[in-house]
Amino acid sequence: MAILHGGQLSRVAKQYQIAEKDWLDLSTGIAPFSYPIPDIPQQAWQDLPTISDSLIEVAKAYYQTQYCWPVAGSQALIEKLPELWNQKNKYCQANVNNQLTVEKHAYLPKVGYKEHQQAWYKAGYQLHFYQDRLPTDIEKNSVVVVINPNNPLTDTFTIEQLKTLQNLCEQQQALLIIDEAFADIFTSEFSFSPHLSTLKQTADVLVLRSFGKFFGLAGLRIGFVCSNRTWCESIQESSGPWAVNGAALFISEQALQDKTWQVEQLKRLQQQSEAMQVLLKAHLSRSRIEANALFITVFLPDAPAIYQQLCENAIYVRLTDEKNALRFGLTEEANIARLNSVLASIV
Ligand SMILES: Cc1ncc(COP(=O)(O)O)c(C=O)c1O
Repeated sequence: MAILHGGQLSRVAKQYQIAEKDWLDLSTGIAPFSYPIPDIPQQAWQDLPTISDSLIEVAKAYYQTQYCWPVAGSQALIEKLPELWNQKNKYCQANVNNQLTVEKHAYLPKVGYKEHQQAWYKAGYQLHFYQDRLPTDIEKNSVVVVINPNNPLTDTFTIEQLKTLQNLCEQQQALLIIDEAFADIFTSEFSFSPHLSTLKQTADVLVLRSFGKFFGLAGLRIGFVCSNRTWCESIQESSGPWAVNGAALFISEQALQDKTWQVEQLKRLQQQSEAMQVLLKAHLSRSRIEANALFITVFLPDAPAIYQQLCENAIYVRLTDEKNALRFGLTEEANIARLNSVLASIV
């Protein structure tokens, strides 16, 4: 069954019978300020898309990695990984061929982007959940997913913690997936991708990077995977020749090297997040509020009721799956007064 995330405004608009154009949509963690779309050469539309060496070089520099490959959004890869891991995972293969029943295990954050859970569950993996502390005991040939920073909790793990986990995964021949969809808001020391080059060439570690969130262009459908040569080649092979559209390749190549815009974007996002935190703290003073530069999560005992009241006032936020928090995406300055007056009227 399809998982409901933020976005999909038309569904909520219909439910509350308020025209889509009248809503303030804060339901996603996508930057409200988009990278300006440059003039796109006709060829980018006309030709079948080719992944150029220049794009790969730009992406390698941005993600500080030796090997990376573009995908049609990290979601596309999340769905494909169980199949790729089953093919790569010799233990599974040997046992399937000998017709033994294979127990497959995946370790995931209990709260976090649910598409990971769904992908491994559908592939027949037994799911094990962790939250504040990374797993310290895992089955052989298993899979460990880390979402760093966590969406919606905002929690982060350090490189040291991730390295310890990576050692464990290596001992157990397990696949380690580090989903850094929101990592662009941190300094480059935050990401695990520069550390990939220090691992054995055969290491099964994938760092997933979203393009759409920080650059405010989620509709473009491009993301990148950083790993070693073998993994990048097998992802390339399994994606087919034209997986990412030409406009996405063209725009991302420009955006990933536009340092001036990136610095300004981070400043804008931080300022806007701080302004919204002040507002939310003023109205929801008894709640725990966790924030980063792309979204703010407010933990409330009556989150479903407040969610409903916000919807009745045409403000759409994300009620977490656990129903104990609301996640507010950022909005432009012009919308802050409206959010302020609605919050003042309902809480
Ligand atoms: C943690 C996380 N990972 C991955 C994705 C997928 O994003 P995309 O396919 O746009 O890269 C999302 C989307 O919200 C997300 O929250």
